Amino acid sequence: MKSYIDLIQQTFEFPTMEFNVENNELLFNNVPLMDIIEEHGTPLKLTYLPKIGEHIENARMFFRNAFKRHNYKGSYTYCYCTKSSHFSFVLEEALKHNIHLETSSSFDIPIIRELYRRGKVSKSTYILANGYKRPLYTQYLSELINEGFNVVPILDNLKEIESYEQLVTADSLNLGIRIATDEEPNFAFYTSRLGIRYNDVQQLYKEKIEPNPKFKLKMLHFFINTGIKDSAYYWSELTRFMFKYCEMQKMCPDLDSIDIGGGLPIQTSLQANYDYQQMIDEIIENIQWICNKNNVPVPHIFTEFGSYTVGESGAVIYKVIDKKLQNDKELWYMIDGSFITHLPDSWGMNQKYIMLPINNWDNPYQKVNLGGLTCDSQDFYNTEMHSADLYMPIFSEEEDQYIGFFHTGAYQESLGGYGGIQHCLIPAPKHVLVDRDADGRITTRVFAKPQDSESMMRILGFRDESYVQQDTPTEGEQSKPEESEVPEMADTKN
Ligand SMILES: Cc1ncc(COP(=O)(O)O)c(C=O)c1O
Repeated sequence: MKSYIDLIQQTFEFPTMEFNVENNELLFNNVPLMDIIEEHGTPLKLTYLPKIGEHIENARMFFRNAFKRHNYKGSYTYCYCTKSSHFSFVLEEALKHNIHLETSSSFDIPIIRELYRRGKVSKSTYILANGYKRPLYTQYLSELINEGFNVVPILDNLKEIESYEQLVTADSLNLGIRIATDEEPNFAFYTSRLGIRYNDVQQLYKEKIEPNPKFKLKMLHFFINTGIKDSAYYWSELTRFMFKYCEMQKMCPDLDSIDIGGGLPIQTSLQANYDYQQMIDEIIENIQWICNKNNVPVPHIFTEFGSYTVGESGAVIYKVIDKKLQNDKELWYMIDGSFITHLPDSWGMNQKYIMLPINNWDNPYQKVNLGGLTCDSQDFYNTEMHSADLYMPIFSEEEDQYIGFFHTGAYQESLGGYGGIQHCLIPAPKHVLVDRDADGRITTRVFAKPQDSESMMRILGFRDESYVQQDTPTEGEQSKPEESEVPEMADTKN
């Protein structure tokens, strides 16, 4: 019978730049994963830090090449969208590559301040401030602006600008406007709720930005939530956006930049089928063509890639702890973790990842379903991007079997929560950071131990020193009830 490695070599061009097998064990970016497992155990989250810089430089290269090919006269600025992963090790690694940041919440701002304190960002680092902003967020942004930080609030609704009118004391303020795109035809809504509708953009500029000598409209922004794809939908939204840019640029000479959002995809299968360079080339060609047609100078281009920055750096490794044959055909490999809690996108939106065994590559293989530890019937994984079936090595009682999910570095902790209370109290796994020293040698360091029961007991209120603090003023953005809505307290003294 054929072995697992035969199956993979027949299905894909294998090995790849990223994945290789030596002595029947998997290497991820040349990191021998069995060594990591022997040292740290499973379940394990792992971040291969050098991938972050590699992708930042790749994206810069795609834009540089495209600019050269089309003799494009604008500049390119790489921003990292922090919501993909707020962890300090991700931000610090990305910032080593001289990037800029995009934020989405008031809670991003203490992070920016801490990065500034550590000397990782400067006052000239662009902070593109996106999101629907509540008072604390506009207040924090205004404070940064007044202190000379290079913040560009991207207006998401018509009222947001009023906060800056009141709070910004600096001499000038660069503003952006997010334009609400139409959604993909099969989506539940016609137009995105995010951003300002096309028809309102000009009026907002004319009534609120142009008359105020402090304000400069610097940037228009759009984001296609289905990502940068070679589809009629993407091209039609980009074209519409660029025509609006040209219309606005003619009435607003300060406008010289566009932010085309995130959405550069990552690989979710060993089958590479996305031509990054060609896609960026076409974007640049389109932008330039539309500007030339309208006699408008081409804009400087900003991106805010989240998944592309951090997604491919992440992996989750599990041990198969049991095999359960539940009828004549359905064999389950039970893992020592959970898809619902550790990889919520795999459960919530049927996201596929690159999934490979870590060892036993010379064993024969069989079709299996992977089962998670929670008691939720949906806690499973059994198809792949390229196939409706999932295969794993057959292993004996004497052997251990480990499996890895790769390119899991974006959004999973933001969505699933981190170190909190999750389904069936499945704990957050240990998290190890893998890096290379100046000589290219692999280094590892533990970022987080596995979550312990004590942390859950505290959150759940079973400890005196509770996670839920009583009667302390909140620093968050809790809505305060209107005076009249405050319920009268019952008089208990009586
Ligand atoms: C405004 C905005 N920019 C950038 C991103 C990052 O997208 P991605 O992770 O696909 O690059 C998002 C993601 O939701 C977003 O909402």
